[in-house]
Amino acid sequence: MPAVKVARTEAEYAKRKLKKLNLYDGKRRPRREGDFVLLPVIEDERAHSLGYEVLPVELPLRPERQIYRNLESVLAERLSAEELKHLRRYDVIGDIAIIQIPPELEHRVDDIVWGLRKVHPFLKVIARKGFHEGAFRIRDYSIIWGENRLETVHRENGVEIKVDLSRVFFNPRMKGERYRLAQLVRDGERILIPFAGVLPYALVIARYRKAKITAVELNREAYELGLENIERNRKRLRGEIEFIHGDAFKVLPELPKYDRVVSPTPRGVDALALTLDKAKRWLHYYDFVHESELDAFRRRILEECAKLGRDCSVRVKKVSDFKPYVFKVCADIELKEG
Ligand SMILES: C[S@@+](CC[C@H](N)C(=O)[O-])C[C@H]1O[C@@H](n2cnc3c(N)ncnc32)[C@H](O)[C@@H]1O
Repeated sequence: MPAVKVARTEAEYAKRKLKKLNLYDGKRRPRREGDFVLLPVIEDERAHSLGYEVLPVELPLRPERQIYRNLESVLAERLSAEELKHLRRYDVIGDIAIIQIPPELEHRVDDIVWGLRKVHPFLKVIARKGFHEGAFRIRDYSIIWGENRLETVHRENGVEIKVDLSRVFFNPRMKGERYRLAQLVRDGERILIPFAGVLPYALVIARYRKAKITAVELNREAYELGLENIERNRKRLRGEIEFIHGDAFKVLPELPKYDRVVSPTPRGVDALALTLDKAKRWLHYYDFVHESELDAFRRRILEECAKLGRDCSVRVKKVSDFKPYVFKVCADIELKEG
């Protein structure tokens, strides 16, 4: 899809101009590249006649937040302003919508189902979501409308991901993160992904980059779906994925070091030393951290690097809210030569 490349100082002006001409593609996100910004535009000859450089680039779609607003406006017909305040964000995974319904809206389940179907006429299943449980981080769901299944095929970042929400972990909100990581990877890199689930990170990276990826997952059902996902996407992938079924804490010590390690660490698991030891140059380590602990988290990473005799720089990025004052974060750790 096309994007126009403009100097950062001109970006606001260019965006307004593109919007005025109905050329701006609001479904995708702009991206900053050094002193420039890539602004998404629709396929239209006119975009080429504005004096900007037009490039073919994959910019990620905007998150579900946008969709959520639509549900709110549809439900405004039926719910009071007070009730609307309790409406939670929801996710659409393939043709399944999942939503958390707080006790304040228990009597409004039918209206919420009506609203979701109105906003997403393609839905086949609507489920209420509970919490992630156990080592495999599987959520507890109950179907409140539609077909009796939690299996579906989700599309994101140009790949198809088959999931069965009753058996495996999957988080569609990490779409932007997966895209971000894929863009950091260079062709030819060797990458290790423990805690790989049904392979969303591996597939997205392999879709964009000619990388050699080794992924590890303990949940047999996620492993089998992951193998199916490799086949399903085979023609779309530039990179290669090797998938190992096993416990990362037993498998990783037997593996060599990799240029880059991506650790979508399960909540409550400490895999920092394990994954750091496998990274030659980069580790992207996901964790859940209280706002007041962010500095301590950063310091701990520096200490772990020092224990391995490695010099490193760390950037901790908040990826999403988890609960009040607690964030899912990604530490981008660059290990220096030596
Ligand atoms: C937070 S989920 C991330 C899954 C996947 N990367 C994603 O983003 O959808 C963590 C995954 O780690 C797996 N897991 C938990 N303990 C593990 C272990 N010791 N070794 C390998 N995988 C493990 C779980 O089954 C789950 O699929």
